[in-house]
Amino acid sequence: VGSFEVSPSILSGDFSNLQSEIKEVEAAGLNMLHLDVMDGHFVPNLTFGPPVVAKMRKHTDMVFDTHLMITNPEKYAKPFVDAGSDHITFHVEVVDDPAEFIKYLHGLGATCGVTLNPETPVETVEKVAPLCDMVLVMTVHPGFSGQEYIAAAAKKIVTIREIVGPNIRIEVDGGISPETVPEVVGFGADTFVAGSAVFGKSNRAKAIRYMLDAAEE
Ligand code: DX5
Ligand code: ZN
Repeated sequence: VGSFEVSPSILSGDFSNLQSEIKEVEAAGLNMLHLDVMDGHFVPNLTFGPPVVAKMRKHTDMVFDTHLMITNPEKYAKPFVDAGSDHITFHVEVVDDPAEFIKYLHGLGATCGVTLNPETPVETVEKVAPLCDMVLVMTVHPGFSGQEYIAAAAKKIVTIREIVGPNIRIEVDGGISPETVPEVVGFGADTFVAGSAVFGKSNRAKAIRYMLDAAEE
């Protein structure tokens, strides 16, 4: 298990001030930024596409941890990588040949992650999880920030950690806060997406410190 990292979700930030939002979490020492891409089809919400990622790219060297909540990740992965996404996470529910897609993403020069919805069984990622750089475990039904953490979904982390061993990151997304971080760390997660728990707070540096302190306990 790697060192703990917080990947703050810009979804909970101020979309009219992206540059200053990014600067704030970067100044707090974070290395990853979670970009929630939604298509109004795979999830009942819409966010942004590659043009916005390209604009953000000009202002930071942070790793763009790009979470594609879209029906057609095969079609849009390259435009996101071209726009500056370093890392692409796709949903296993919508990709026919995940192993092939992972190869393709690595060929684009991106790192990649596979993710699964709370009700999706862990068996669906069993074969391909070891081929990825990261596995993302959803602990809410994707689409919105500020939802309640689903503990039953988080338990899948235990099995996934057994499958991938210590060298692949396990990220958890949905309702993650200083209250829920200790449990997911116990299960084997090392990377925490935080929407409400970071960008939802007025003092982001303090909020990040609380998250990391909760993980170390
Ligand atoms: C949910 C997104 C999350 C979301 C998390 O669909 O994938 O990344 O921003 O928000 P919180 O941390 O508030 O649950
Ligand atoms: Zn996300």
